[in-house]
Amino acid sequence: MKKIALLLTIIVTLSATAQKFQNLALSPPMGWNSWNTFATNINEKLVMETADMMVSSGMKDAGYIYLVLDDGWMAMERDSVTGNLIADPVKFPNGIKKVVDYVHSKGLKFGLYNCAGTKTCAGYPGTRGYEYQDARQYAAWEIDYLKYDWCSTDGINAKEAYATMSKALKVAKRPIIFSLCEWGNNNPWEWAAPVGQLWRISGDIYNCFDCIKDWGTWKSLGVTHIIDARKNIRQYAGPDHWNDFDMMEVGHGMSVNEDRAHFTMWCMLASPLIAGNDLRHMTKETISILTDKDVIAINQDKKGVQAYLEQQLDSVDTWIKPLENNELAICFMNRSQKPVTINYNFQQHPVNDTVSKTVVDFAKTNFSITDVWKK
Ligand code: GLA
Repeated sequence: MKKIALLLTIIVTLSATAQKFQNLALSPPMGWNSWNTFATNINEKLVMETADMMVSSGMKDAGYIYLVLDDGWMAMERDSVTGNLIADPVKFPNGIKKVVDYVHSKGLKFGLYNCAGTKTCAGYPGTRGYEYQDARQYAAWEIDYLKYDWCSTDGINAKEAYATMSKALKVAKRPIIFSLCEWGNNNPWEWAAPVGQLWRISGDIYNCFDCIKDWGTWKSLGVTHIIDARKNIRQYAGPDHWNDFDMMEVGHGMSVNEDRAHFTMWCMLASPLIAGNDLRHMTKETISILTDKDVIAINQDKKGVQAYLEQQLDSVDTWIKPLENNELAICFMNRSQKPVTINYNFQQHPVNDTVSKTVVDFAKTNFSITDVWKK
């Protein structure tokens, strides 16, 4: 009897570790998502214009590949005969496949949103009970990325719900990045690596540097609050399994310095870089922040290590991200609104990072320093 139980345990474990499509996100995924700026006000024209802008602004060349439609793309009801999801007929009069094909024709990849519950957060049909059917539909539409939310999920188990959808995608046979969005409520970093490529670690971002926006029953978080929320989960992130600090707010209302700090930290934290601004109306500064190849290279570094917080002193947080080729990215993030002078004696800050197994004694090492933003 015992032997049978042991055998069953082993089989279950093996299938859990082998579940997702492998190697779809060896570096943090980069792209654009509609939610932060447009909420449910999305349509075919916006998708096409955004795809055009991703190419002409240089974002595609900088690595932004996924164009993801968030909540609000569906009709309020499934097809009454087949039960299939259908696109909102007014927003997408030619259906989803038309926009997928357009996005693909630009050399980009396409993503959609749905939810593990009975309804999405904005009240559209959720996937609960339709996991395999929806996965087949996504494969038929040839999408490349699925963001999967956590509203209307009363009483269901997160680990099981996300494992089911991941399996449904696998069975549908089209490699699709699976982006978990349960806001870090169930510690996805502890169990989601076998089922998805990225998982949100917090509630929704808000386009301010350090405020909290109170909506009554829930709150959204300014940039520093998201950074501060999860300092101790960096060991769970790495190639093909990333902590997701949420879609970015660069170019969506903060000052240029705040945008630069926000972007730098998302790069340091090895977060997916999903822009959330209106790409059709970007300032020169916004484009230059979002497409800075040297800062993006820190984010996309093959080692895939999330930065650690070395020191908090006065208003300045010092973050260190070990990189490949014997390099380190060091970020001095000034949380105040005033310029500060920083004195940092490297010899007093040796690196001894157990996560990436990086050891550097600056007293015994020759090194050179490059200011990445100022070149
Ligand atoms: C949740 C998610 C957001 C967005 C909205 C859509 O709040 O966390 O990122 O997808 O739902 O309704």
